[in-house]
Amino acid sequence: MDTSHEKFRQRYLESLTQTINPAVIDYLIISHTEPDHSGLVRDVLALAPQATVVGSKVAIQFLEDMVHQPFPRQIVKNGDRLDLGNGHELEFVIAPNLHWPDTIFTYDTKTQVLYTCDAFGMHYCNEQIFDQDLALIEADFRYYYDCLMGPNARSVLAALKRMEQLESIATIATGHGPLLRHNVQELTNRYHQWSQAQAKAETTVAVFYISDYGFGDRLSQAIAHGVMKTGVAVEMMDLKSADPHEVKELVSLAAGLVIGTPPTNEVAIQTAISTILATAKAKQSVGVFESGGVDSESVYPLVNKFRDLGLTPAFPPIIIKETPTAATYQLCEEAGTDLGQWLSRDRSIKQMKAFDTELEKAVARLSSGLYILTAERDDLTGAMVASWVSQTSFKPLGITVAVAKDRAMESLLHVGDRFVLNILEEGKSQALIKHFLKRFAPGSDRFAGVKTYSVNNAPVLAEALAYLECQVVSRMECSDHWIVYSTIQSGRVSKTEGLTAVHHRKIGNHY
Ligand SMILES: Cc1cc2nc3c(=O)[nH]c(=O)nc-3n(C[C@H](O)[C@H](O)[C@H](O)COP(=O)(O)O)c2cc1C
Repeated sequence: MDTSHEKFRQRYLESLTQTINPAVIDYLIISHTEPDHSGLVRDVLALAPQATVVGSKVAIQFLEDMVHQPFPRQIVKNGDRLDLGNGHELEFVIAPNLHWPDTIFTYDTKTQVLYTCDAFGMHYCNEQIFDQDLALIEADFRYYYDCLMGPNARSVLAALKRMEQLESIATIATGHGPLLRHNVQELTNRYHQWSQAQAKAETTVAVFYISDYGFGDRLSQAIAHGVMKTGVAVEMMDLKSADPHEVKELVSLAAGLVIGTPPTNEVAIQTAISTILATAKAKQSVGVFESGGVDSESVYPLVNKFRDLGLTPAFPPIIIKETPTAATYQLCEEAGTDLGQWLSRDRSIKQMKAFDTELEKAVARLSSGLYILTAERDDLTGAMVASWVSQTSFKPLGITVAVAKDRAMESLLHVGDRFVLNILEEGKSQALIKHFLKRFAPGSDRFAGVKTYSVNNAPVLAEALAYLECQVVSRMECSDHWIVYSTIQSGRVSKTEGLTAVHHRKIGNHY
């Protein structure tokens, strides 16, 4: 079932050959052709040339380009079965876009194990093989869904429907993180609930990318994640395997378009781009990114064509020549958020206006202090103005901060992340507030021109009255905000007689 990434060649092949004589392998099932699962197909076939490769039609097509030599194959469709003997009859579930265009799940009728490759996974690992401790894994389970599955919510719902046809699922053997055995129902229900919420969104952005070129898949996922933070749905489509009718349909229903182009003249890709251009309409918003190109100019003709058609550019073209870093993905996420915020601006204004005036005034009487949250992780930095901050526990000392779901800084406030709460001083807060409320371009340095010093690698504002160094313990989803609960690791006051800046409001539907 699948192989591994080529960077694990030695370890993987050693393990494989210690476990089984490759000459007796009958079938190699390919869940999808992403490099971390299929990077060693060629190597396995060199050891087991008799093995029949089983996969979806698209997977076999992609594999031909990866293996470059004939191999025995069997294309499977939804519901097809393969009898391995000893009661192990495999049933295949077609699950395109979860999260690769060619994905299939495999169900073993004897063990009732459903092999789902990426779906239901998480980027989490400890000694436990199974999911007995739900509290330990649920934050990662959600985050993984948001990054990889949410952008294809309609496809998730379609796959869940097909899964209902299977007899009974005892275990979900995902390819990433613990295997699900104790919470199968609960966790599949969550996928259902989150995907339904996505599918109900009024606005959709279409993200076209090329799955197997450069870093196109991860860059497009980061943009998609940024869009989804604003409550706008995303549909992703691989330009290489997309059917022109599907491209046309998706462009027609989308309010915004994102196109990731490698500098290639491949016919299938050029045809898909021509279809996008022929279907795009002036009222749409568009963003373009290019990865893996040596000649960065090739992205501009496309940008100009969209401009000539009257589409609004959502963010400046993103051109990535080097291997992307965490900061590159942050830039992409912020660009996606800018696009989503632009598309949902009418909804936001309507929501603000819909407030009852008496209620508005009453809610505004809730007052607070004024703070700047700052954080640094690897080559990432973030900062935001916050007022919805409250002490929440004595032992250990803890605070909560309400962070809007579409804040750029939200991605630096996950469980385990560290940040600094800078407490501003009465009469001295305005310059800092003004600076951090500026509209920052995606990926820009929010600390430029601001005096900071470092405490345990966290940026503290030199002008703050006091600071608290915090670590995120948990997050609670509250409609349009995340309530982030954090314990306080250390803190200092710069001036004992100083008072905290207080924030009074006139209306309650604004900070
Ligand atoms: C006085 C004031 C208080 C704010 N408090 C919060 C807050 O508690 N939580 C939050 O998510 N945003 C809060 N904001 C909004 C943002 O911090 C601000 O608009 C943000 O810097 C821009 O969004 P971005 O960082 O995602 O680009 C506040 C804004 C103001 C003006």
